[in-house]
Amino acid sequence: MTIDVSDFSAYPHRHLLGIEGLFPHEISFLLDRSESYVDQNRQADKKKSTLRGRTIINLFFENSTRTRTSFELAGKRLGADVINMSVATSAIKKGETLIDTAMTLNAMHPDVLVVRHPDSGAAKLLSEKVNCAVISGGDGRHEHPTQALLDALTIRRRRGDLAGLQVAICGDVLHSRVARSNIHLLNTMGARVRLIAPRTLIPDSIERMGVEVFYDMKEGLQDCDIVMMLRLQKERMQTSFFPSVREYFHFFGLDYEKLSVTKPDALIMHPGPMNRGVEIDSEVADDYGRSVIREQVEMGVAVRMACLEVLGLPREIDDSTVRNL
Ligand code: NCD
Repeated sequence: MTIDVSDFSAYPHRHLLGIEGLFPHEISFLLDRSESYVDQNRQADKKKSTLRGRTIINLFFENSTRTRTSFELAGKRLGADVINMSVATSAIKKGETLIDTAMTLNAMHPDVLVVRHPDSGAAKLLSEKVNCAVISGGDGRHEHPTQALLDALTIRRRRGDLAGLQVAICGDVLHSRVARSNIHLLNTMGARVRLIAPRTLIPDSIERMGVEVFYDMKEGLQDCDIVMMLRLQKERMQTSFFPSVREYFHFFGLDYEKLSVTKPDALIMHPGPMNRGVEIDSEVADDYGRSVIREQVEMGVAVRMACLEVLGLPREIDDSTVRNL
């Protein structure tokens, strides 16, 4: 299927709440559109007026550095007005609910609401209440669609295609929305996904998502093209999931020894923020011959520009075919 990157009706959805359910050509369209911004972002003049007059609100109920700043930068580079609202300054502290906050913001006529929330499903709930487009910047353990898109763009630029690649996602899968969005995207685009983690950090019945599960790094990493490391999300752990950080690093931290079984040119990825010496050895993380962690951050801005542009401008949306994304 040939994709016309200037035809925004190629993405016929009002929102971007997750990757699950998107068709391969819809994902390719967003990636192709993002691609056009990579070069522009490397030039001295990075500003366009595509979204001039539009208002984007970043509504963040959880801490974030790269996701929030890259959405902000993306919006500004497209000429939009961007407002950041974080939980610490919002009325949430005074007992106002998610919906009340959303309705208050909705009354200000934003064009796009980017939302990050600790509860799975929060972005969807919000999308049902407001009149504007909603982009999820991560909801609980559910999905983090723009992270999967930026990961895919990074891989595609290095490898040309996602189809046929063997990708290992390693570490705290249980608490990771990044893992879930990546599994959906990679499977949809024809890559094969392995998960590698201690038993306690693998969700029950995850095989149903079409992945292979390994509990040993060297077994799982064998001949992989891509190694995606996940942060150990201690803030989401109420109980102890492993004996000690030292032991975790010994068995599941990515170091040169464990990397020796992958394809020699395997790419190393991490969504950030990294716990150096916990899930990844510092030297491996900074090995820019193989680690594309900085590139992921760069691609994040391009991907968010594409998503804001596509969702922030009027498009043909046929409500009878819109899936519940
Ligand atoms: C991820 C997130 O918030 O889910 N980070 C990010 O968006 N860059 C992963 C993480 O926090 O570990």
